[in-house]
Amino acid sequence: MSKFSLIYFLLWILLQVLVDVNCQSTPFKPNVIYRHTATFVDNKLYILGGKDVSNGTLVKRFFYLDVSVLYDTQLLSWQDLSNINIIPLHTDATSTKGGVNNDTLYLYGGASSDKTMALVYTFDPNRTSWNPQKITMIRKWDLTGVVDSNGKFYLWGGVNDNVAVANDMLILDTTNLNLSEGSLVNAPTPRFHYGATLLPNNKIIYMGKPVIFIYFIHLGGTNDINFGKTLNLTKGALSLNEVYIYDTVNDNWDTKITMGEIPSKRVGFSTILGLDGQRIIIYGGYFNNPGYSNTTLYVLDLSNYNWYVPKISGKNPSSRTFHKANVIGKYMVISFGDGYDRKVESDILLLDISKNEEYIWTTKFDHSISSPSYSPSTSSSTLSPTLSPTLSQSPSSSPPLSLNIKLVGVIIGSLLSGIFLSVGVFFVYKWYKYRQQQKTIRENEFEKDIQISSLQKPMVC
Ligand SMILES: *[C@@H]1O[C@H](CO)[C@@H](O)[C@H](O)[C@H]1NC(C)=O
Ligand SMILES: *[C@@H]1O[C@H](CO)[C@@H](O)[C@H](O)[C@H]1NC(C)=O
Ligand SMILES: *[C@@H]1O[C@H](CO)[C@@H](O)[C@H](O)[C@H]1NC(C)=O
Ligand SMILES: *[C@@H]1O[C@H](CO)[C@@H](O)[C@H](O)[C@H]1NC(C)=O
Ligand SMILES: *[C@@H]1O[C@H](CO)[C@@H](O)[C@H](O)[C@H]1NC(C)=O
Ligand SMILES: *[C@@H]1O[C@H](CO)[C@@H](O)[C@H](O)[C@H]1NC(C)=O
Repeated sequence: MSKFSLIYFLLWILLQVLVDVNCQSTPFKPNVIYRHTATFVDNKLYILGGKDVSNGTLVKRFFYLDVSVLYDTQLLSWQDLSNINIIPLHTDATSTKGGVNNDTLYLYGGASSDKTMALVYTFDPNRTSWNPQKITMIRKWDLTGVVDSNGKFYLWGGVNDNVAVANDMLILDTTNLNLSEGSLVNAPTPRFHYGATLLPNNKIIYMGKPVIFIYFIHLGGTNDINFGKTLNLTKGALSLNEVYIYDTVNDNWDTKITMGEIPSKRVGFSTILGLDGQRIIIYGGYFNNPGYSNTTLYVLDLSNYNWYVPKISGKNPSSRTFHKANVIGKYMVISFGDGYDRKVESDILLLDISKNEEYIWTTKFDHSISSPSYSPSTSSSTLSPTLSPTLSQSPSSSPPLSLNIKLVGVIIGSLLSGIFLSVGVFFVYKWYKYRQQQKTIRENEFEKDIQISSLQKPMVC
């Protein structure tokens, strides 16, 4: 029945267009950013500040990813909170989870040309508003704050208000909101864009030698997107042949010489603690031999301070710089950064670090916590029961999507619009019949083929 298939075809085309339009306008799509903060609180990864990778402009966005409903990094559902973001435009701040109940997001420092920007902001435990905190300290940026098990936030080094590289140790107690200073005896020389990680023994490991070659200005419109290309890594950057250990209990510093496959000099990388607490994993940064994507990732064995390149399977992503890395479940979760093509890679990368013998780059987030061994396919029985109903084209193969209110809106909207469109199509049909009477249209097989193949295409967002 060619007439009916033509009507169906037209209706389908119109609906497809409508769904596409809806799908594009509904989910929040953040800019590709770097130099942001990424803080994991209450199963949500909150992203704030930073710069647009494409042109270096500061981005006033605040949004989160609900990890409890994350299954596939190709289907990210960002939730926008920019309307409650009172924090002035800034970049290169540092953040942590802390506070009396260990459920508050703390933001410290950051480079901003806005003089009204407070030094410390908290995102209230109910996560409805940001609040500036009154505390007398200096502003710093390009540092990595580390929180300890008592909620003390160690803010070492970085660049300060006098645009000088610092090596002071500020300790912000997030439960009492007061400040103290740590020892500088045997502290490393001033530096910024270093890596810092808390170890299980309440020591903080810092890595990265002084950056002696630059000043690049963050503010006043100066664009630093060419930082990586113009950086002379031979001359200055961060060598990882020694690391610095700050003991938070005894307030003292120690230096360790590292051995093994020492990573090339780099800047803007991230560091995390391995799940067994016995190794540091570093990822990304601008470095000397970017041709080898496998050398974006190294591991420092803390038992002997030996670097090695781990065995990794899965699809190697392109290297990223000035991204953030958080440990969530059994994954190192990389967010945003400079160096990837969003058309090819997700804003979020997942590295399964549950097995030291082999890490795995993956796009699927496995929520089963108990199973120590990795299973590549997420079976539905392991999914959290708090899951919202699933919307899926083919339940057997595609991962479940969270059916949020917006999506319901889109579907209902599409259906309603579809009904209205049917009316429109009816008139098109009338017109078509009228044309038929004027002139006989001969069907050809080619047209039919197009119709059939188009109709088989699923309507998905
Ligand atoms: C920078 O790029 C973003 C898109 O990535 C755009 O929205 C923004 O307007 C650009 N800003 C300037 C100043 O060009
Ligand atoms: C959080 O919500 C509870 C209950 O609505 C309220 O009693 C409490 O004051 C709120 N706390 C903050 C910090 O807003
Ligand atoms: C806060 O929670 C984290 C786990 O998310 C834990 O590692 C840390 O020790 C807690 N801090 C305090 C002060 O309880
Ligand atoms: C911070 O406040 C707590 C509780 O009032 C107090 O015990 C501690 O000594 C204070 N620390 C500093 C550095 O003032
Ligand atoms: C980088 O610095 C080293 C050491 O000063 C110098 O030999 C080399 O020529 C520099 N490379 C570039 C590209 O400027
Ligand atoms: C990393 O890449 C280099 C160059 O392609 C290769 O020689 C080396 O074996 C690779 N290392 C690992 C651990 O895959």
